[in-house]
Amino acid sequence: MTEGFQPPPYPYDRLDELKAVADALPGGCVDLSIGTPIDPPPAAVVDALAGSGAERGYPPSIGSAPYRRAAAGWLARRLGVTVDPDGLAACVGTKEFVVGTPSFLKLRAPDRDTVLHPQVAYPSYAMGATLARCRSVAVPPSPDGTLDLDAISAADAERALCLWVNSPGNPAGRLDDLGAAAAWGRAHGVPVLSDECYVEFTWDGPPRSILEHGIEGVLAVHSLSKRSNLAGVRAGFYAGDPELVTYLREVRKHAGMMVPGPVQAAAVVAWEDDAHVDEQRARYRRRLELMAEVLAEAGIPGELPPGAFYLWVPAPDGDAWALTRRLAADGGALVAPGEFYGGEDHVRIAVVQPDDRLELVARRLGRASR
Ligand SMILES: Cc1ncc(COP(=O)(O)O)c(C=O)c1O
Repeated sequence: MTEGFQPPPYPYDRLDELKAVADALPGGCVDLSIGTPIDPPPAAVVDALAGSGAERGYPPSIGSAPYRRAAAGWLARRLGVTVDPDGLAACVGTKEFVVGTPSFLKLRAPDRDTVLHPQVAYPSYAMGATLARCRSVAVPPSPDGTLDLDAISAADAERALCLWVNSPGNPAGRLDDLGAAAAWGRAHGVPVLSDECYVEFTWDGPPRSILEHGIEGVLAVHSLSKRSNLAGVRAGFYAGDPELVTYLREVRKHAGMMVPGPVQAAAVVAWEDDAHVDEQRARYRRRLELMAEVLAEAGIPGELPPGAFYLWVPAPDGDAWALTRRLAADGGALVAPGEFYGGEDHVRIAVVQPDDRLELVARRLGRASR
């Protein structure tokens, strides 16, 4: 028996039993557990994927010039920030970047060993620390929901390879103070990595990027997965501090990280179009409101989030697993217990099913409560 690293159970695999419970209801399971898009991407994107002719040769690891120009154009158009296309580079979706970057940062700063991340968060920030043989340190929220940067001890700051911020955040959709995070990073010499994959699903006010606060010492990380319903093709990019971008794009070339050529061609079409994102925003907004009503009628009140497409609902008696089981057994809805994200007394409900499936959940919950 090896004493080395044993991968923990993958969180969503822990829901298999409850999925079977939900599936046993007539009409089957309504899966609201993983934030995986189900709506179609634009037809022009799919056409570009099939017809680019880019499958034969190796694709540029940093992204083709059109890919980087399209990403920079999108940043300017949608987020109002100007970045030189040479100051950004492609990543294979953002999860690999989130998990892989601490290892690359550790290689050039071997005396540091800590990844800072929000306490209630996407679990891959902590997994990136583990896979880099580092420790992860959770930063608690302030009462207003932004990161309590004053809670980071001087010792942890000195050991930090990076601080992750995520706004709008998974799972709660919270909006962070990105200017304060950038300033903290600069004051402490710690790169601030801003995961902005939900930025176009900001409901309270305009979309915000850390790059609005200057590029020194920060990176913004973006993805087509959620914006364009392209989680299956794996395309994203990172932009910001020129020295960090240059280091990462060189080391990632050596590591063989490449967005496939046909995906790069399709991504250009996706980054250049905004109409499909506006349609998707309307869908998610409607589903968030519908699902919040369904839950309130079942005696499970919750608030609409300021961003992203999750309801982050407090379990009525604080027992998130009990609520997860109840929603599976009575509503046939599979949801994610907050424990997966470090928030034990909540459940996360991803509104990634069509309205008729959410209405099916409503009917089932109504029947169960009669
Ligand atoms: C906060 C956050 N970051 C990154 C990702 C990964 O997205 P991608 O498909 O770009 O790898 C997700 C996916 O759910 C997420 O919630």
